[in-house]
Amino acid sequence: MNTILVGAQWGDEGKGKIIDVLTEQADIVVRTQGGNNAGHTVYLGPKKYVLHLIPSGILRPGKVCVIGNGVVIDPIGLVAEIDGLEKLGVAVSPDNLRLSETAHVVFPWHRELDAQREVRKGQGKIGTTKRGIGPTYGDKAARVGLRVIDLLNGARFPDRLRERLSENNEVLKALGAAPIDYDSLLRDYTTAANRLRPYVANTVLYLHESTRRGANILFEGAQGTFLDIDHGTYPYVTSSNTTSGGACTGSGVPPNRMDRVVGVMKAYTTRVGEGPLPSENAVISDLLHGLGREFGATTGRARRCGWFDAVVTRHACMVNGLDELAITNIDGLDTVTTIRVCIGYRLDDQILHHVPADIEVFSRCEAVYEEFPGWLTPTHTLSRWEDLPVNCRHYLLSIAQLTGARLTVASVGPAREQTLFV
Ligand code: GDP
Ligand code: IMO
Ligand code: MG
Repeated sequence: MNTILVGAQWGDEGKGKIIDVLTEQADIVVRTQGGNNAGHTVYLGPKKYVLHLIPSGILRPGKVCVIGNGVVIDPIGLVAEIDGLEKLGVAVSPDNLRLSETAHVVFPWHRELDAQREVRKGQGKIGTTKRGIGPTYGDKAARVGLRVIDLLNGARFPDRLRERLSENNEVLKALGAAPIDYDSLLRDYTTAANRLRPYVANTVLYLHESTRRGANILFEGAQGTFLDIDHGTYPYVTSSNTTSGGACTGSGVPPNRMDRVVGVMKAYTTRVGEGPLPSENAVISDLLHGLGREFGATTGRARRCGWFDAVVTRHACMVNGLDELAITNIDGLDTVTTIRVCIGYRLDDQILHHVPADIEVFSRCEAVYEEFPGWLTPTHTLSRWEDLPVNCRHYLLSIAQLTGARLTVASVGPAREQTLFV
């Protein structure tokens, strides 16, 4: 059984937690897009782990994790992440982590260009994670990127690096930023390359051989549907395909080998970074921030919060082909008397039931709400679906129905045990 898991909103839906739960039934967990802009949180008992590039499956012994060809890799960040996990007692070795030889590499000029472009945009900034994701995918599409296979080639890499650096230093100088020193860059990247060399593999062949042997593969999506470069709220998006199709192109496993698509969504909506969010709401933001929740796992920024938006999740259901839904952070609404759900957008004198493509039009949309009675009962201690308050079950089944897929998992807390199967 091959399962693709994607975020159905704007990222941070709780994918890491659900991946950790689903990994129990998987043999291999694969990241297929994005880079260390992702931050996937998993709690095991009191210990908190935040994964950026390494699939969340790494926390379960005996599972193999793959960083696929569609991911962009900051080699220094990846080495730091491996070391960080080992410090927390998680064994990481070429036995349980494989890195695609054709994944593109993030360089410091990508990060600097990411930051410089944001500064120049001023008010119109995207609010990126400044991890160099956009410029790295930009170079990939422009066919001037360097891949892991180049990084490992000691004969070729120094010249390719010099050539890329000289072009990018010209750009940095023109933008008023400091140029990057070649010698220290070569030294740092060579050191990282030597650390990563044992992990590098032809992951496309590995995944196909594993499929032939009957392995169960779980594809761990990063970001969310509305951050997709094609289907998101462009230009307020990331630079990869975060929707289910990205799992195929980013791994080399074709669509007809995929068995199921699971969408993860919060019981409300959050977004970190700029861009439209029609159901944004100050009361629910204050409530969640007051509980110490909804701060970014990668950048620490406060996430913008709002009511559940069924127009966006319905669109997500369509473009991802969602079969099943996991709803997380249900406990975040435990104290809300009347819960609102956005079911359409008011635009001038019309009501829209789809997400408009034009960002200016979408920014003018006002949410139209349906109201649901809250359950006003703590849910975080419950362990069976049947034990959830009736208003809570009604709310969850309603938002799943509005989205258009089958609810299979309900999450009432960050821990594995706080997972209810429907
Ligand atoms: P991801 O990027 O989709 O993996 O999500 P993040 O890890 O960035 O953010 C989700 C946050 O919600 C993390 O802090 C999780 O520990 C937390 N979380 C996930 N599910 C639940 C839940 O059901 N209840 C609560 N209280 N927290 C949850
Ligand atoms: P996970 O996998 C939430 C957002 C940034 C910004 C936009 C572009 O943890 O859900 P980028 O650095 O990718 O160029 O930033 O995308 N963003 C995320 N928001 N969760 C993420 O990942 C995100 N990765 C990027 O905040 O708005
Ligand atoms: Mg996250």
